[in-house]
Amino acid sequence: MVGVVERLAAIVGPAHVLTDGDLTAAFETDWTGRWRGRCAAVVRPADRDQVRAVLHLCNSEGVAVVPQGGNTGLVGGAVPPDGAVVLVTTRIREIGSLDEVAGQLTAGAGATLGAVAAAVRGSGWEVGIDLAARDSATIGGLVATNAGGARAVRYGPMRSQVAGIEAVLADGSVVSRLAGLAKDNTGYDLAGLLTGSEGTLAVITAVRLQLVPAAGLRVAALVALPSTADAVALVSRARRALPGLLAAELFHESGMQLVLGHASLAHPFGAPGAGAYLLLETSDPADALAPLLDGFDDALLADDEAGRTRLWQHRERHTEAINAAGVPHKLDVSLPIGRIAAFEDRCLALVGDRARVVLYGHLGDGNLHVNLLGPAPDDETLDEAVLRLVIEMDGCISAEHGIGRAKAGLLPLDRSAGDLAAMRAIKRALDPAGILNPGVLFEDARQT
Ligand code: FAD
Ligand code: MLT
Ligand code: ZN
Repeated sequence: MVGVVERLAAIVGPAHVLTDGDLTAAFETDWTGRWRGRCAAVVRPADRDQVRAVLHLCNSEGVAVVPQGGNTGLVGGAVPPDGAVVLVTTRIREIGSLDEVAGQLTAGAGATLGAVAAAVRGSGWEVGIDLAARDSATIGGLVATNAGGARAVRYGPMRSQVAGIEAVLADGSVVSRLAGLAKDNTGYDLAGLLTGSEGTLAVITAVRLQLVPAAGLRVAALVALPSTADAVALVSRARRALPGLLAAELFHESGMQLVLGHASLAHPFGAPGAGAYLLLETSDPADALAPLLDGFDDALLADDEAGRTRLWQHRERHTEAINAAGVPHKLDVSLPIGRIAAFEDRCLALVGDRARVVLYGHLGDGNLHVNLLGPAPDDETLDEAVLRLVIEMDGCISAEHGIGRAKAGLLPLDRSAGDLAAMRAIKRALDPAGILNPGVLFEDARQT
């Protein structure tokens, strides 16, 4: 490995190869603190050609490579297995000029979502995806995980924002389509294949983003409701009444109390007690929301940025508040939206007093986050029981965070033998030596 480290330094410059444990530590642990590894080196290439050279070297030496962007992923997908090289993309962060006509721009994979959002602010276009990790999460990471976030109910997940991709395969060869053509049926959709591939098929180096028209007006409403079933009914009405619906987020008193304690905030409704909270945001005028909220005494509205931020923090700060309470087991599931309320009841009964459960999510997409606090980081008993319930109720075990290392062992619960064989064949074809992110998606990726 010593020889490899020296050759990596010759490619990217010695300052961009880290081997000292104090310096590599931040790249070896995930955001929740649940996964840790010990890498051989962290390497930070400056551009696509350096990525090519790094992959070519590691492939020929049989060294595992773990792509990493902002390291905000929640399934351990960017944490290295022992001895791997962590390839960090954050130096590849150039943001190209905006094509105002097409509403597109090309961003380096290491540019953060926040930086791209800032670059297009005021142009009449905006990025159709948003999430609380915006200032660290990278465009490459968002594409690699096919991230969702609060606005997916309106604009779809990251996949819908991708107009093209440039990426480097395990052997150092490049696939590239960055013209941003709206229609292109010239062969396999490689950009589509790499979206959601979690660093197992290629290192994404640039992304052509399709932006969406910026919403002029934004009105947010935080509503306290008797139950999740009432929240589901309200979301269903909101989807029909509000063509500009931008978000429909669910949470509960369990999470509300964690956030209030963590952020030292007063209860927005004065006292606890609601069965469910629903945060709606729309680009329709406030008048359009009023009839929907008729009959609900506990609804707070905001149409200015400061007021909306105040309402949103109760939902957005769940992730950090949970982290502050312990090392969570984070399950991120999809369910038919009509079964969410029944799932919550059954999930709470199943877990009982074996863990503290905090449920919240993107209700408009039927995407629920099940956070379990209490079980030891490596005890997966409850995770598996909850995910089996999800499958029994016609859901799936990853809505937006991906499979990562966290759920690699559970993938066969949710995919047929045929599906798994097809996925393994793709992995084998693009990464025959199995150097890219071994252990992610497939527990035994090296033995494909
Ligand atoms: P990393 O964490 O660095 O990597 C994630 C995965 O992508 C790994 O498998 C890695 O190998 C791979 N990868 C990264 N970059 C590349 C690349 N250039 N080429 C190939 N593979 C790559 N997620 C949601 O979906 N919705 C949310 O609402 C949401 N909210 C969040 C809020 C908070 C506070 C936090 C901490 C996380 C949240 N996440 C959310 C999870 C996370 O932000 C996303 O998964 C994000 O897409 C990860 O981006 P990243 O740059 O940090 O990627
Ligand atoms: C969210 O919706 O807040 C994110 O997906 C992060 C999380 O699940 O905590
Ligand atoms: Zn989420």
